[in-house]
Amino acid sequence: MFTPDTYKKRRDELRKLLPGGIVFFPGNTEVPFNYPANTYTYRQDSTFIYYCGLQEPGLAAVMDIDDGSECLFGDDSTMDDIIWMGRQPLMNDKAAAVKMDKAQPCPALADVLQKAQQQGRTIHFLPPYRAETKIRLWELLGIQPAQQKEKASVALIKAVVKMRTLKEPQEIEQIEAAIGTSCRMHTYIMKHVRAGMVERELSGAIEGIALANGGPVSFPVILSINGQILHNHSHGNTMHDGQLLITDAGAETSMGYAGDITRTTPVSGRFDARQKAVYNAVLQANLQAIEMSRPGILYRDVHLASARVIADGLKDAGIMRGNMDDAVAQGAHALFFPHGLGHAMGLDVHDMENLGENYVGYNDTISRSTQFGLASLRFGRKLEPGFVLTDEPGIYFIPALIDQWETEKKFTEFINYEVLKDYRTFGGIRIEDDILITENGCRVLGPPVPKTVEEIEGMREDLK
Ligand code: GLY
Ligand code: MN
Repeated sequence: MFTPDTYKKRRDELRKLLPGGIVFFPGNTEVPFNYPANTYTYRQDSTFIYYCGLQEPGLAAVMDIDDGSECLFGDDSTMDDIIWMGRQPLMNDKAAAVKMDKAQPCPALADVLQKAQQQGRTIHFLPPYRAETKIRLWELLGIQPAQQKEKASVALIKAVVKMRTLKEPQEIEQIEAAIGTSCRMHTYIMKHVRAGMVERELSGAIEGIALANGGPVSFPVILSINGQILHNHSHGNTMHDGQLLITDAGAETSMGYAGDITRTTPVSGRFDARQKAVYNAVLQANLQAIEMSRPGILYRDVHLASARVIADGLKDAGIMRGNMDDAVAQGAHALFFPHGLGHAMGLDVHDMENLGENYVGYNDTISRSTQFGLASLRFGRKLEPGFVLTDEPGIYFIPALIDQWETEKKFTEFINYEVLKDYRTFGGIRIEDDILITENGCRVLGPPVPKTVEEIEGMREDLK
């Protein structure tokens, strides 16, 4: 945990951003896997971690914005808990560890919230994303799960987004630690991938690296020779020479901060000429984003500049043709780059996505495009020092999408469907780094993860 003052200061700042009422932060509970005592790996709610620091299940916090009081709710361990799980700190000590005024047992929470409701006070809560929390809100506030998103407090969402988007130096240290572990996961793959292995041999091994370093992984590992499937979570393919392996994976620190790195590695250890050309187009797009990202620029414009680099690379390969400014403006490149350049990252790998992507990545001055491809850009707004974002361009050959566009004769001015026939089994390439926006530009976070063709090929000691 950070110092007790960290959490106190954050709550004091939050109080200043809200008009009044009560803030209710339900922490996460344990979730059963196949029977109640056999639970999924526990993960605390990220906003609860941010303001209250505590990682144990079954807690809640209430802040009274009007009189400044705060209370942590939760139950002390019973003897049965102590026998099976060991002695836990007392609730009063947990409250003291995050400088909260006092602690009360769980049943008192219902009384506090009911009294506030009877007095007609606003109870601010965030949109819940877990069934258990939805049931808890239903029981405590009488709001049906289907109505909870709409009744969530926009003022609280905006205040939380404002604070959590700007990372403190101690948070950057955590993120860099997560990326350090993520780097070890990726270099393991570069060193150990071999033809004949099944993908899960690698995905299992890197998940182990995350766990051994305090993890878990920050999201389910994406590791596939079918990199054209953007979020491919199945790991059952046997890998062959000539194929490209995409690994999009990151670790989380024990305090909950994420890393999110993607690298693409040839199974044989060597890129062929065609793979190299496409790889270098993606690499140039990634580097373009690093060069351009600075305070004041829209991340949408950085995305479009990267898209332009990708389109140029595809034109060089004979896959695209015509005027690439027009092609990118009309969205023709999105056949190959159908997702956004990046997203905010922090305590969540897609930071605060549960609060609503558009609150995080857009605002009153820039709204989300509806154009295919650009519509998937999670973060388009103006950059500020302290933001942490991913920079993850890619080129994919998705046969079903190619077929649909060709049948519709879509963008025939810009896309050479004849040449594309040779790329149907190419797969996909993505390269992802995590960047911090600084006063004058940006900094790639964490230790360098091998990224150029030469660096990745150089990881195969057996081929030297
Ligand atoms: N790392 C997965 C994603 O960014 O969507
Ligand atoms: Mn990502």
